[in-house]
Amino acid sequence: MIRDIGCGEVKEQDIGKELTLSGWVFRRRDHGGLIFIDLRDRSGILQVVFSPEVSAEAHNLAHEIRSEYVITVSGEIRKRPEGTENPEIPTGNIELYAKTLKVLNESATLPFALEEAAEASEALRLKYRYLDLRRPELQKNLIARHKATKTIRDYLDELGFLEIETPVLTKSTPEGARDYLVPSRLNPGHFYALPQSPQLFKQILMISGFEKYFQIVKCFRDEDLRADRQPEFTQVDIEMSFVEREDIFTVIEGMMKRLFKTVLDMELQTPFPRLSFKESMERFGNDKPDTRFGIELKEMADLAEKGSFKVFLDALQSGGRVKAINGKGMAGLSRKEIDMLTEEAKAFGAKGLAWIKVKNGFESPIAKFFPEEILKEMAKRLEAEEGDLMLFVADKESIVHDVLSRMRLELGKRLNLIKPGFNFLWITDYPLLEWDETEGRFTAMHHPFTSPTDDDIERMLSGDFEPASLKAKAYDIVLNGYEIGGGSIRIHRTDVQRKMFDVLGISEEEAKTKFGFLLDALRYGAPPHGGIALGLDRLIMLMVGAQSIRDVIAFPKTQKAFCLMSNAPSEVDEKQLKELHIKTDVVIKGQ
Ligand code: AMO
Ligand code: AMP
Repeated sequence: MIRDIGCGEVKEQDIGKELTLSGWVFRRRDHGGLIFIDLRDRSGILQVVFSPEVSAEAHNLAHEIRSEYVITVSGEIRKRPEGTENPEIPTGNIELYAKTLKVLNESATLPFALEEAAEASEALRLKYRYLDLRRPELQKNLIARHKATKTIRDYLDELGFLEIETPVLTKSTPEGARDYLVPSRLNPGHFYALPQSPQLFKQILMISGFEKYFQIVKCFRDEDLRADRQPEFTQVDIEMSFVEREDIFTVIEGMMKRLFKTVLDMELQTPFPRLSFKESMERFGNDKPDTRFGIELKEMADLAEKGSFKVFLDALQSGGRVKAINGKGMAGLSRKEIDMLTEEAKAFGAKGLAWIKVKNGFESPIAKFFPEEILKEMAKRLEAEEGDLMLFVADKESIVHDVLSRMRLELGKRLNLIKPGFNFLWITDYPLLEWDETEGRFTAMHHPFTSPTDDDIERMLSGDFEPASLKAKAYDIVLNGYEIGGGSIRIHRTDVQRKMFDVLGISEEEAKTKFGFLLDALRYGAPPHGGIALGLDRLIMLMVGAQSIRDVIAFPKTQKAFCLMSNAPSEVDEKQLKELHIKTDVVIKGQ
């Protein structure tokens, strides 16, 4: 080792010792007589001082070195003179007086200064990801991620879980996204799918008798990307036999408790609160509410009915809804500012945003459509007081909920209502099916292997049921407005699984080709089983306070699923395509 200790590990007890340190030149300040360098390695930063009185040779050489040169220095650890301490860093009271300096490697001028990375474009940072990753902030994120996965492995091992790997070259499992396909050279015209999740394999492992499985595993989904979505992401995937929902909840709550204690030294209160899907939709407009602040959605249909505002009446007439939220203290907004708010609502999909100011009575272009006592009743329901702004959306239910849930978040941020902290929440009692308008059929709300409730199993098998009314034994776990996991108790009977495919409009033929192995396996004594998968990237993002999951993934992809560092995906040789029996109709440059 060309060093004795890490830069960040030097302590005040080391004052007077001679130490050798190695690392990168983070900052260099030339103060005429003295040259200061902040030397950085993974463990932290230590200030190194070059003084001509200690070593003229080292001081001379220190003139030559630039940012990100790799150097080794030896010298004495001293206490910093009074008034020059830096309370921002753990080594802020000490410094190393260099006797020798050796340059181990030079560095070209960086495309962006590491300290000013926040101002560099993300595209530039992703292209030079190896430099971006040198930043203490990203190092801290990946170190936290390592600690988290280690803690999860240890915890699950203690509970008797086995980590078992499942194939990456596999068959498509429907999780609702598009598959990534891999052509098979040995089986022309045939394709593997990269797993959207190990769902079917983990169920098969239960049928094989492993009882408690987990895997920290890459999943692949070709979907539209956002700040919390990557084409390849990591799940903490879990499955257990002979369990009910409560057993899964206990395992996960214990895991979170351990995780937050180990990584953040924080005590979490368990059990986590629970909210039914229906209640969550009614109160917050979605099934991943950030419960760190209020602004709940309130029903306004019964009051809207008593007025003559056509927009509201028309929405109700055609089976839609009218709901509202309270913009606390926002009655001072100008007409222009309200117009901007309306544009936001429209961008979220609303036709408009009706508003009533509670200001010397009620001030609004639509106030005239309502008797005074109805306006008062509206304000009462929204707990709106003098100075507040009531905001209404009328439309079909899905739009009312979607728009108001986003407006709610927007107001929460704007009004600074979101308290720091971690609010976990279980969402329970999901519907089994949801209506897919584009496909004109019911699809599984979680996935087709999710069990209906016991009562609904009987109703399904008897054939006497309303598809939209069926409930699932499914649950999600939500943290601060993000869905960080989802799971369910599974179907373990062949007849129920067949019936489920039937309800989903999957023919017996199709079920056989796609999931034949599962249907077969279910016939041979499948135990009752269930599980969950946590989105590890999202969880870590929230734990470290990052804005995007890209900040907790070493080599993430862009919104267009592109790796700017390695330039994947890329063109391939004609020869490779031929071997795979693939022709493309895209003209590739240069060929
Ligand atoms: P689900 O599809 O809900 O469940 O996925 C589980 C969790 O994975 C995370 N996640 C993602 N994270 C980043 N980028 C993505 N593109 C992405 N997609 C999903 C979310 C989500 O809650 N097999 C089932 C689990 C089960 O039933 O046990 C499944 O995959 O945090
Ligand atoms: P209009 O009758 O179109 O002039 O709209 C009157 C007010 O109602 C405006 O503030 C619109 O933004 C609002 N508005 C229009 N459509 C809706 C809707 N579907 N839900 C809520 N407000 C709406």
